[in-house]
Amino acid sequence: MKNSSFLVSFEGIECSGKSTHIQSFISLIKDQSLSAQLFREPGATTIGEKIRTILLDPTLEPSETSALFLFLASRAQLITEKVFPALENKGQVVILDRYLDSSIAYQGAGEGLGEQWVEKLHDHFPLDLRPHITFYLDISVQCSFDRMKKRGDATDRIEKKDKDYFEAVRNSYLNLSTKFPERIKLIDAEQPIDKVFNDIKEQWEAFLKDGHA
Ligand code: TYD
Repeated sequence: MKNSSFLVSFEGIECSGKSTHIQSFISLIKDQSLSAQLFREPGATTIGEKIRTILLDPTLEPSETSALFLFLASRAQLITEKVFPALENKGQVVILDRYLDSSIAYQGAGEGLGEQWVEKLHDHFPLDLRPHITFYLDISVQCSFDRMKKRGDATDRIEKKDKDYFEAVRNSYLNLSTKFPERIKLIDAEQPIDKVFNDIKEQWEAFLKDGHA
């Protein structure tokens, strides 16, 4: 596996535990003598971070379509500027904290722009780059809201949306994991934290064993 490089993405609704599990995944990667590079979306490049401030600013209201293209602009920049060069290095695992499935679920389903259309926008270079494996951390919307409340964070523009919106986002993720079972691994993220990570680890090890190493 030291002769290959891998692209891995993490997906999930708010408070699904992505950040925690990404950190544990990075430790696992290092234990396997692989190198890890993490990029978050939107962001990760100078242009992308500027786009992020626009997208998450609660005082701004970009139209659904303009928000979608801002996400795509950030992504295209990230792929070209960071992901392609990183994947040139053998033994490299490039980890993406959100990627195209976020746009399909949030803009396609949540905002109602159409999942198929958003997916189609990822048909062409460089947006046609797909992860080798995606960990979708599934929690119910109620669990997400309970955790958000407990965390007591200041809410950004997207977190202010209502329950129906997140139900649509979650359903879209669930549909995507059925549509692309080879790539998207559904992880029950309401389980105790150790169990969740163990499931991620098992899926990753199965992926490596499955001829990807
Ligand atoms: P962030 O604070 O990074 O949230 P999280 O820690 O949950 O990832 O904010 C990213 C927000 O942007 C999140 O609410 C999901 C949203 N988003 C989209 O709506 N579409 C996209 O394509 C991406 C990448 C993110």
